[in-house]
Amino acid sequence: MPKITWFGHSVIQIETGATTLLIDPFLTGNPAATVKAADLAPDVILVSHGHGDHIGDTVELAKRTGATVIANFEIAGWLGKQGVHKTHPMHIGGSSRQPWGRVKLTMALHGSGLPDGSYGGNPCGFLLWLDGKTIYHACDTGLFYDMKLIGEEGIDLAILPIGDNFTMGPDDALRAVKLLEPKRILPIHYNTFDIIKQDPQSWQSRVQKETNARVSVLQPGQSLEI
Ligand code: NI
Ligand code: MN
Repeated sequence: MPKITWFGHSVIQIETGATTLLIDPFLTGNPAATVKAADLAPDVILVSHGHGDHIGDTVELAKRTGATVIANFEIAGWLGKQGVHKTHPMHIGGSSRQPWGRVKLTMALHGSGLPDGSYGGNPCGFLLWLDGKTIYHACDTGLFYDMKLIGEEGIDLAILPIGDNFTMGPDDALRAVKLLEPKRILPIHYNTFDIIKQDPQSWQSRVQKETNARVSVLQPGQSLEI
């Protein structure tokens, strides 16, 4: 039974029996974060794209903990130049068996420039198979019809942005739910900044009225188990 914790914005921690995964660890400078990077000890870090609110504290965390960083080929190469050498480069459509489960990089409609202006390749989302569960983290993306194909995997938990402006907003995120047909949903990437302000409870009501999915609205720092 994996335990999923939302630390605000797009920061997700997934704890399986033996492994702690951390996705998009933007803690320093994240007004919604409930922990500091120094408080965390991931075994694996996954980075969806190069934007500062996703790559965040990856370099510091990876150097301190020795965590393996999974990211696209370009970001893995950039991390190498920052002194992070335990990386696993992948690309969209590719999957990889890992000691804790399996990961596949999925498409995402977004940008991926790195904080210093370097090219960060294409942004991605993640399909994760661990502890007998299938998790889809869309990361930063607009709506795309191929979510229908991702849904064919049988999603136990979909982690979806609802903030609008930079990613899907509530209307398109609802359409995403209809394509993905997940059992459960965790909305993220909202209320970190005024420009992505949303009401997650009203979105929860809409989704639960129009689909069979259950929406779990968390406060930053809270967890759920699937
Ligand atoms: Ni972004
Ligand atoms: Mn973002």
